[in-house]
Amino acid sequence: MTGDGLLAHHRLREGEGTPLVLLHGFPLDSRMWHDIVPLLPGSFPVLALDLPGMGASPSGHDVALRLQVPDVPSVELQADAVADTLAELGIDRAVVAGLSMGGYTVLALLERHAWLLAGAALVDTKAGADAEEARANRLRIADEVERTATVDEVLGMRRGILGETSRVERPDLVQRIDGWIRDQGPAGVAWCQRAMAARPDRLDALRAFDGPVAVVVGDEDELSPLPEAEAMVGAAQDAVLTVVRRAGHMTPIEQPEPVAVALADLVARA
Ligand code: MLT
Repeated sequence: MTGDGLLAHHRLREGEGTPLVLLHGFPLDSRMWHDIVPLLPGSFPVLALDLPGMGASPSGHDVALRLQVPDVPSVELQADAVADTLAELGIDRAVVAGLSMGGYTVLALLERHAWLLAGAALVDTKAGADAEEARANRLRIADEVERTATVDEVLGMRRGILGETSRVERPDLVQRIDGWIRDQGPAGVAWCQRAMAARPDRLDALRAFDGPVAVVVGDEDELSPLPEAEAMVGAAQDAVLTVVRRAGHMTPIEQPEPVAVALADLVARA
C-alpha cells in the first residue's frame, strides 16, 4: 500500500493499460479480492480500495471533512471518495468492479463520475433500493453495533454470504470471512449500514451508461439473486452476464476462476 490518496489503496498487480479497480462488499475490506488476482489473464494493473470506515481507510466522518461535504453516511460519499482517490493517484479512467456494497458504489460512480469509467463490473449486487423492512433492519443493526461497540451483530454474515455449496464443503471460507469481519471497526460497520439504507434505485444510471458492463452472480446467491442480475443486464446498453455455478454472494472467493475471466473480458472490451 502507498500512503497517497484519500482511501487506503492496495496495488495488487503492476501492469500496463487501463487499470482494474476493485471495490469490496460489506462488512469486509479489499482482501476479499486477493484470490482472483493471480488468475487474471492479461497485464493490466490491478488496484483494490478500502471503502470509508473499512479496512485501512479513514472513517466516513473524516472523508466527509476532507471532501468538505455534509457528514451524512451515503453511497454517494463512497463514490466521491473513490473518484477523489483515483484522481490523487493520477488515474483518470479505469474499469471499476464492485461486489454487493461495492456494486452500489459503482452505480453511484456511474451517476456522478461516469467519465471515470471505461467499464463497470457489478458482482453479486443489485441496482434497486431497499424495501422499507430491509432499511429499518439496517438502521437497527447500525444502532446495535454502536451500542455494543462490537461487530457481533453482523458476524452471522460469515455463513449467510456464502452459497450452500461453500457452507457445506468449504469451512475454511467461513473462517476467513469471520476473521475479516472481526477486523472491521464497529463505527465503520454502522456507517456503511446507514449509507446503504439511504441509497436510491440506480437502474436509470445503468441505463444511461454506454460503456461495457459485466454482471456476475453466483447461482446460490441468496442476497442478490439471479433476477436482480438479470434486471441489471436488461437495463444496461452493453452487458455480459456470467452466472457462476456453485457459488453464493462471494463469487470471488468461492469460485475465483470464472470471476477473473469475466473481469479480464470486461477490461478487454473497454
Ligand atoms: C455486501 O455483501 O456488501 C452486502 O450484502 C450488501 C448489503 O447488505 O446489501
